[in-house]
Amino acid sequence: MANRSLGKAKKDKNDEFYTQLVDIEKELSNYTEQLRGKVIFCNCDDPFESNFFKHFAMSFNQLGLKKLIATCYNPSPIAGTQLALFDVNPHLKKVMTKNTKHAYKIEITEVKDYNEDGSIDLSDVEYLVKHNGNSIKLLEGSGDFRSQECIELLKESDIVVTNPPFSLFLEYVAQLIKYDKKFIIMGNMNSLHKKEIFKLIKENKLWTGYGFNLTCEFFMPDHYQKWDRIENGKKIGKVPAITWFTNLDTHKRHEEMILWKKYSPEEFLKYDNLDAIEVGKVSEIPEDYYGMMGVPDTFLEKFNPDQFELIGIPTGNSGKEIGVTKNYRGRTDISLTRNRKTSCPYSRIIIKRKKHED
Ligand SMILES: C[S@@+](CC[C@H](N)C(=O)[O-])C[C@H]1O[C@@H](n2cnc3c(N)ncnc32)[C@H](O)[C@@H]1O
Repeated sequence: MANRSLGKAKKDKNDEFYTQLVDIEKELSNYTEQLRGKVIFCNCDDPFESNFFKHFAMSFNQLGLKKLIATCYNPSPIAGTQLALFDVNPHLKKVMTKNTKHAYKIEITEVKDYNEDGSIDLSDVEYLVKHNGNSIKLLEGSGDFRSQECIELLKESDIVVTNPPFSLFLEYVAQLIKYDKKFIIMGNMNSLHKKEIFKLIKENKLWTGYGFNLTCEFFMPDHYQKWDRIENGKKIGKVPAITWFTNLDTHKRHEEMILWKKYSPEEFLKYDNLDAIEVGKVSEIPEDYYGMMGVPDTFLEKFNPDQFELIGIPTGNSGKEIGVTKNYRGRTDISLTRNRKTSCPYSRIIIKRKKHED
């Protein structure tokens, strides 16, 4: 499993990676105030399997949430397999028994009877849907986030929080932007190089969250053939290059990067085919250079839009175009001939310092 990246998942359209609670809690703990009192929608989340649902059910009262909605996707291998859930609604149980798999939505508006001794598990879905203000209903369609019924739920929500299918990441983000929704979602570092995503970062409509370039462990369905380890009978696989994306404000995007290095033409080579200097380490961005610079992708972890301007990603055979598409090697086509280097072998993002008017 170790080499199966989310990039591979995209290729295979193998989207069943279930996020661990520890990774969700770590990221979401940074947004407590922004989540307070909101309608949260987890739209790629079977409540039985999703730790996003579990996290919000457990912290429902603490965050004073107005509502928690989760929709599950019919083709998912686990959708509708938990028939016990529908014991609370005999009609649904009948429907579910006839159609072995069905997509459904769950809506939570109250979480009551909290027992401090822990005898009630607040993430227990059966327990939750027994309350009056809560419901579980079959969806008419497959639970596809693009379906009209799911879009209606999206419109009703304030913040979307999930790990969406990697194979549909661009479409997924485009829909969130179209409906002007706030979001905290997981994705892959490769997305940073997609022109659609890069454009949104440039336009300040999306940025990276706190967790950046992580290697995370995901639960995977039983039928998966490759995995790294098994814990309590569940298959777990490690996936590198995971990054959170959001459009909720973060502290870090207002932090000024401390720059200490001085520019010298000997140390910072200029590309042959672009009027920009090569800066191989983000920590070595020169503090006294205001021209264009090529920096590694990891720059986006620390990107403060008041301090820097994103110009683009070099593309095309000449490398002069500042487009946002990767070349055939997935790298930039900017070249350095001095110092016996013939090309810059790594992908680069072109940036510029912003001048502050003192
Ligand atoms: C990477 S998994 C993550 C699952 C869950 N959000 C989590 O983090 O544990 C993506 C999920 O999206 C579901 N999915 C795939 N295509 C979908 C679609 N078109 N609409 C909604 N969900 C979809 C898959 O079934 C899968 O459960």
